[in-house]
Amino acid sequence: MEPNTTNTLPPTVLVIFGATGNLSTKKIFPALYRLLELGRLPEQFHIVGIIRNSNIDALFQELEITLLRQTHGCDTDILARLKGMTSLFTMDSTLEADYLRLESLLDDMDATYGAKHNRLYYLAIPPAIFKSVLTCLASAGLNHEEDGAARRILVEKPFGTDLASARELVEMMSTHFTETQTFRIDHYLAKETAQNILVFRFNNPVIEGIWGRHFIDHIQITSAETQGVADRAAFYDGMGALRDIVQSHLLQLMALTMMEVPFPLTAANMHAERLQLFRSIAPVKANHVDEVVVRGQYDDYRTQVANPDSLIETYVALKLEVINTRWGGVPILLRTGKALADSFTEISVVFKDRSRRNAPDNLLTLRIQPNEGVSMRLMAKKPGLSSDIEPVAMNFCYDTSFAKSTQAAAYERVLIDAMQGDQTLFATSAEVLAAWEILQPVIDAWRASPERPFVYQKGTMGPIEADALIEEFGTTWLSGLKHICSVHPDTSQHTETNT
Ligand code: BG6
Repeated sequence: MEPNTTNTLPPTVLVIFGATGNLSTKKIFPALYRLLELGRLPEQFHIVGIIRNSNIDALFQELEITLLRQTHGCDTDILARLKGMTSLFTMDSTLEADYLRLESLLDDMDATYGAKHNRLYYLAIPPAIFKSVLTCLASAGLNHEEDGAARRILVEKPFGTDLASARELVEMMSTHFTETQTFRIDHYLAKETAQNILVFRFNNPVIEGIWGRHFIDHIQITSAETQGVADRAAFYDGMGALRDIVQSHLLQLMALTMMEVPFPLTAANMHAERLQLFRSIAPVKANHVDEVVVRGQYDDYRTQVANPDSLIETYVALKLEVINTRWGGVPILLRTGKALADSFTEISVVFKDRSRRNAPDNLLTLRIQPNEGVSMRLMAKKPGLSSDIEPVAMNFCYDTSFAKSTQAAAYERVLIDAMQGDQTLFATSAEVLAAWEILQPVIDAWRASPERPFVYQKGTMGPIEADALIEEFGTTWLSGLKHICSVHPDTSQHTETNT
């Protein structure tokens, strides 16, 4: 699972469909820049950016702005080297004839550099055109692996828009690319702290011993964002939070938190255990959707996406249950939303009050982002002559325990693993379908009653109706602990209100 160093990575050409889109400029190119900076790219490495129109200067100017906005800054030499590795190729990616031109460009590259390059086709394009790109790649023979050179396809979530379309996509893709050639990206799986969930659980026997229904009261998984969707209106208004975040990122985080140990730790065993967990989640019951799922839409969403009738949800909270001997009866509460009061992704494991003294619960928080780390709320005696007790936090912060420069961002990991052919942190078709199966009753119920979601004010933590969902379990939504790595963390207040 550990990425190889530069010189062992095979010669590679990365072909990016949608090279000037949001995903490319915000995530893929910054990750390539960083890999180049770290010396982690293959010695022979080239990027072919597929575009309709635009030019390389415009692309790299935008990249420079993005890099400057992101934390790691921008070294003009590295940027120039990355530009030198990049060629832009103008084509209509839905037109078969254009793929023959692409093929000769790629063959010329092999000839010029005297190597059979692995070819990675990254589909950073709207799902609506996946089918034509895949079919055209196949009809030009660009999917055929020859002379030991790999041909891999990288696709972003969401993989389909419901169970039926995902099944169709799986079937269609499998006629052109085998499962080992297909890399379905869920970049949350590649986040450093998401990978740490398993290490934390399985390498600390004290944790593993209390990991289950006998000790755990409930689990909350939150992915909150302050940003709205203004710059992604076209994508988002056909998608919504359930498909964009819950079906992929939140369910995968849930799997990592609750799956059994994959032994030995191989890609196949990881996939099998994640799948097993998905299959143990009780699908939402069709006649209970309104009781266990709350959808919301922030107040000026319709104006932002210029769709006055939009019914798309920008917020979802839902309750799930895993039916197995370890987890039966433990409520799992998931929520995600845009334009909220705070940005954080955290998994909060709330322990049962076995003391029966009505003490604040012990709480273990796995902070996926920001200020990655783990904290545990414990009770301690207050100093002084009284016997008062107070909650205190035991903290592990990535930034203070490890050098920041050694931490790999999710897309860096995605790219390196795809170059190595390591599928551990990618989702299999079976996982993707199992995740859709869990949520399909929700999609059906919402289709059957096309109502506007509950409206919430931008800058709050979502619709107040979501509070009722969790209050049923005698608890409240927990606010983010991202400030806990600061010098004087406030550990006592950890619940939030919606107003
Ligand atoms: C993407 C979603 O997959 O993840 C976005 O499409 C979301 O809507 C993003 O904003 C969040 O990713 P990250 O890594 O910034 O938490």
